[in-house]
This record gives sequence, structure tokens and C-alpha cells, in this order.
Amino acid sequence: MKKRLLSFLFFFASLSAYAQNTATLSAQTNPERVISRHIYGHFAEHLGRSIYGGFYVGEDNKKIPNTAGVRNDVVEALKRLKVPNLRWPGGCFADTYHWKDGIGPKENRPTIVNTWWGGVTENNSFGTHDFLNMCELLGTEPYLAGNMASGTVQELMDWVQYVNFEGESPMSKLRKENGREKPWNVKFWGVGNEAWGCGGNMTPDYYANEYRKYATFMAGWTNENNLFRIASGANSADYNWTEVLMKNIPHNMLGGVALHHYAVIDWNKKGPSKDFTEQHYFATMKSALFMEELVNKHTAIMDKYDPKKTVALVVDEWGGWYEVDPGTNPGFLYQQNTMRDAMIAGVTLNIFNNHSDRIRMANLAQAINVLQAVILTDEEKMLLTPTYHVMEMYNVHQDAFYLPLTVKSADYTMGNDKLPAVSGSASKDKNGATHITLVNIDPKKGQDITVSIDGAKFKSVNGRVLTSKNIQDHNTFDKPDNIKPANFKGANLKGNNLTVKLPACSVVVLELK
Ligand code: AHR
Repeated sequence: MKKRLLSFLFFFASLSAYAQNTATLSAQTNPERVISRHIYGHFAEHLGRSIYGGFYVGEDNKKIPNTAGVRNDVVEALKRLKVPNLRWPGGCFADTYHWKDGIGPKENRPTIVNTWWGGVTENNSFGTHDFLNMCELLGTEPYLAGNMASGTVQELMDWVQYVNFEGESPMSKLRKENGREKPWNVKFWGVGNEAWGCGGNMTPDYYANEYRKYATFMAGWTNENNLFRIASGANSADYNWTEVLMKNIPHNMLGGVALHHYAVIDWNKKGPSKDFTEQHYFATMKSALFMEELVNKHTAIMDKYDPKKTVALVVDEWGGWYEVDPGTNPGFLYQQNTMRDAMIAGVTLNIFNNHSDRIRMANLAQAINVLQAVILTDEEKMLLTPTYHVMEMYNVHQDAFYLPLTVKSADYTMGNDKLPAVSGSASKDKNGATHITLVNIDPKKGQDITVSIDGAKFKSVNGRVLTSKNIQDHNTFDKPDNIKPANFKGANLKGNNLTVKLPACSVVVLELK
């Protein structure tokens, strides 16, 4: 009797610790539906310690091993991440940046004031050659953000010529004089940034006209160099912005329309990055998951004007934004990166994968030492954040065939509010392996999920997990491996059913063969 009672109690205890979820995976591929690797892009702005001290420590630095001034440890870590593209030099900084300040002998380069970010002096020692050569070192495609608001059409035309023109021209001559014979052939170009705000406080109609002018002179009659021009897009739920751009800009001039959305609790009270409460956590996750609605609504507008989906939605700024770390420069946006950020990355990338027919490019803000960074540095020390590990675990989806995964999730509740606890996405790579990424944002409850598989038979499953006891847990320079992926033993395959035991606050990647 006592034994029966005990097992009864144990049964209920395990029910409350693990909630039940279901999912369906359609495992047959559609050859036309690929998850672009460019969804996994990054962003490096001249902001705080992103470039200086983050990527670049200077050619003369003897303390930190570097290649042409770029940190070797950073190059090695980013190569493992398979960074497909890197956006530079801003952000807001882009619309104050005059690229000619950053070429030629370093000692002759003018200094400017970085008006948006802390009013610090920018000596332009990291410029066009430094950035584009660094991209070659990283094996990543550059995404140059052009200055529309304080620059000129001529200046942007010249930049395109300088980096891309093979033949003889004043700009290609200048490039060669500065030591680079062959053009870099940069494909991705932003035309201004946040034109509704720091990029000029423009109206969408005014911006659309300006865009048409700039885009025309960048690419000529036929855009024979196939420049992928990206219009400065909406601030979160500003749907009118997308509407006006899609209506007023001819689509043959438009590779993509951007969207910026940060997971922020309240712009006036952003909350701490490390010592936050569960209420803060819930509010952040709510804002991160709002991306789903944003993508659906912006996509619906784009579909109205572009049913064939020729224009991409480019989410070129996303991530968590909190108060800066105490004692750091408020203009440098340096924040700690915890398991909360791992959750943001996991759910957001699942959303992007699931909408990869329209979202074909995105950039996490930002790569190093700024906002939701994948790398933090302190002089010669470097650490990989929980977000880094999620981006690395998810890189199996890059250029893989998208597979529909529908999840029916239990709720993660806070008072009267609720969020879906589990999210997921799936793909099949070019070698035939199928990958499922799952996230459980509930910080206290594990989730059991049963996935029924349609259209394929698998023999084996294995996986990796990123998890930690507390949502506030993070890596430090003294304990850089506090949080890192581990082998995952919680998945079982029986015929067409896959059962997964997701720990509380976890990201899991599974490989099915
Ligand atoms: O990523 C930081 C800033 O956020 C960017 O410079 C700007 O585009 C956005 O407001």
C-alpha cells in the first residue's frame, strides 16, 4: 500500500516537473525552400569596444596575438561559428561615416567624434581595407551600410567603385595605390540606417524617394554587378513604413527591406543584464517572441505587393537590450550575456528558420562587447557567451532545406500572462542529416515533447544541449566554460515517434539519421 502511494506521489511530482507538448515534423524536403545561411549574420558597429579592443587591437600590439591588427582568438572563434555575413560600420554610426576618412596611411587619417556613441574620438585606424580584409580572413561576406543621411550620392557611388570596380577609374586607381589590386566584390549594401530615427528622422515617403536616387547611382542601368541593396526598414511594429517602401520603390531596385526589433522590456527602464528577476525575464521573452507577430504582419504587407517573394525581409538588427553593466560608459552599450540571451537567440532563430521563405538575411546586434554579444573581451582575455553557443549549435541549419515543424506547446505562465514554453524548427542538410532545434524557455519546468515524424524513417538520434540551473547564469573571464554545450541523452526514437525531455531553460539540437 505504502509502495503504491509512493509511486502515485512520484507520478504527480513528475507531472508537475515536466509538462507535455506535441509536435509534427514533415520530413520531406521542398527543394525550393532553403534556410539561407545569411539569417545567421552578425553586426559590427563603431560603438564602444566592438571594433577597438573587440575585433581590432592594432598592428603594433605585442600583447594580443593578431593578424594585421585583428585578434587571432576572435578570428578563430568566429570561424567556428561560420559567420555568413558581417554588417559594418553601423548602425547609427553609418550615417555619420565618411569612408574616405578610413583609407590610406593610418597616420594621415583624420579623427572624428563618434557623436552617437559616447562622444569619443574615432581615429579611423580601422577602415575599409581593414574591414574587408578581415572579412576575407573570417571567410564571411561583408555587408556595407552606406551613409545616406550625412553623405552624398557621389560618396556612396565612389565607395561602390572603390571596392568593386575591376577596370581603370579614379576610385580603382586609389584602391590600388592603397595596396589592394583586386576588387573585393561586395554584394550586400545598406542604403542608410534607421532613416526614421538616427538616420535622418525622415518620413517613409521622403526616404523612399531618396532610396530610389541612391540605389540608381549605386548600380547603373542594369545592376550588372548584382548588388543586393537593402532599404532601411521599419522600427518594430511600424507597418506603414514597410507598406510605403514596398509600394513606392520599384522592386527591381530592392534586394531587401530591413526590420529592426530588440527584445527590450521598456526603453526607459530596460532592467539589468545580469541580476534580473523572473518578471524581467518573462517581459524580455515576451518582447523576443513578439518577433513572430512582427514577421507575420510585415510579411503580409510584403506579400500584397510582392506575392512571389522576390524582396527579402532583412532583420538586420535583433537581440536583447538591457542597462549597461554598472560602471561602464553608458554610450558603449556593454552588457552581460546570460542564459536569458541564449533563450532569446534560440526562439528568434527558430522564428527566422520557420519564415525563411521571406526572411533571407538577419544580423544579431552585435558581435563583440556590444548588446547581445557572442564574444566579450577584456584586454587579452576573451570569452564565448551563451549566445555564441546557440549560434554555433544552430549553424547546422545554414543553407539546409527547411522542414516544417509544428509545435503545440504548454504555457509558461507569469500571473495572468502566458507564453509558449517550447519552440522549434527543423531542416535537412546537404549530406542528408535532419536537424531539429528546440527551446524550452520555462526557467523552472522541464518539458516532455513527442514529435511524430511524417515522410521519413530514421534510425538514430543524438544531440547537444545548452542549459544551466539559473536564467541569470553566464560565463566570466575567470570561468569562461561555465556554460557550454554538452551531449544530450534525453531523446528517444521509436518508429515514427521521437520523444524528447527538454530540461528547464534549455536549447537542444538533435541530429536524426
Ligand atoms: O545596435 C545599436 C544601435 O541600435 C544601432 O546603431 C542603431 O541602428 C539601433 O538603434
